[in-house]
Amino acid sequence: MVICRVFERPCTLALLIGFQFVFVVYFSIGGFRSLGSLFDRSPEPAFDYSKTHDVYTNLSAISKRTESDPEDNRPFCPERSPYLVGPLTVTFSNIPPLLIIQQKNLLVAKGGHYTPPNCVARYKTAVLVPHRNREIHLRYLLYYLHPFLQRQQLQYGIYVIHQAGNSTFNRAKLLNVGVKEAMKDEDWDCLFLHDVDLIPENDHNLYICDPYSPKHASVAMNKFGYRTHRLPYSMYFGGVSAITPEQYLKINGFPNEYWGWGGEDDDIATRVRIAGMKIARPPVSVGHYKMIKHKGDKGNEENPRRFNLLMQTRRKWIQDGMNSLTYSLISKELEPLYTNITADIGVDPKTLAAAVTGTVKKEVVF
Ligand SMILES: *[C@@H]1O[C@H](CO)[C@@H](O)[C@H](O)[C@H]1NC(C)=O
Ligand SMILES: *[C@@H]1O[C@H](CO)[C@@H](O)[C@H](O)[C@H]1NC(C)=O
Ligand SMILES: *[C@@H]1O[C@H](CO)[C@@H](O)[C@H](O)[C@H]1NC(C)=O
Repeated sequence: MVICRVFERPCTLALLIGFQFVFVVYFSIGGFRSLGSLFDRSPEPAFDYSKTHDVYTNLSAISKRTESDPEDNRPFCPERSPYLVGPLTVTFSNIPPLLIIQQKNLLVAKGGHYTPPNCVARYKTAVLVPHRNREIHLRYLLYYLHPFLQRQQLQYGIYVIHQAGNSTFNRAKLLNVGVKEAMKDEDWDCLFLHDVDLIPENDHNLYICDPYSPKHASVAMNKFGYRTHRLPYSMYFGGVSAITPEQYLKINGFPNEYWGWGGEDDDIATRVRIAGMKIARPPVSVGHYKMIKHKGDKGNEENPRRFNLLMQTRRKWIQDGMNSLTYSLISKELEPLYTNITADIGVDPKTLAAAVTGTVKKEVVF
């Protein structure tokens, strides 16, 4: 009862041609679709960095509290803050003194804590800044970071973690201390690990965490011509990065044994990989940072042991980290623009050994 019998040649031919046509159409549509997705996959937002805004733009608009609204009736802040302006003007001349910065950020509460006045923040971020003897850079960072975070409508706190004493600087251990102390204050849902000398240049670089992956935020720095492929390997997770408390626990926090400059970022990146997570990154056009120029720090000399330590990460991460952290909290001061956590985190074992055998000159110990 078919229109033509299958074994008759003209009909077979017609069927074949028909099938072929269907296949061609099917694959070409599929092909176009996958081609399209290739282009759509990473829509790099375009920003014109030749047109920048002052970092205090729109701040006065935020500070207008609507008095009639009782606090518990505040709505959630919008998904996307209306105050964002994109690229920011970042210079390091004429940064005002702390007192003036305070006056420019009237809604920042003691300890450098902030809550949006008119809406309930969707995100709670603690910014942790390991620090010693870099007061000028800290002032620059505070000047830029406070308005930046307020425009993002975050609830936030800025913590400066100060290493007491004169032993070699230990960035990663200070961060462990910072996480532990900051979590006592508030149930933060995101921890931003922030070098003191990096200033974000685009407020679309949201200081919130990725729920699935730790995030490396400082992907494009002026020092490297804003090109990611110029980033040294050691910048893989260093500079500015973000991790949730859950992700932090999953990697057993950060290593405590990296005294001096270098290596700890790679160790952290390895921990992230071992724990089965990836490292997320904002689009390059968003993750712009300006680095404050400075000479090498005294007391933060290159860590000569870092390559040895790195080879052991796979074995040691489970023993060295959050679960082995020891320190004594010396003080916790609520400054107007930040919380100063000062901790004694111990002494670099290298200098201890050297002091005993007397092989290292005084300045190196300092
Ligand atoms: C924020 O500032 C920009 C640039 O001046 C302006 O166009 C925008 O309307 C401001 N947004 C709000 C919500 O005030
Ligand atoms: C650290 O070094 C300074 C300057 O050399 C010195 O005055 C101070 O006593 C030292 N502090 C400690 C705890 O060793
Ligand atoms: C933090 O507190 C310690 C101890 O009081 C102090 O020595 C240090 O200068 C303070 N640092 C900052 C940046 O406030």
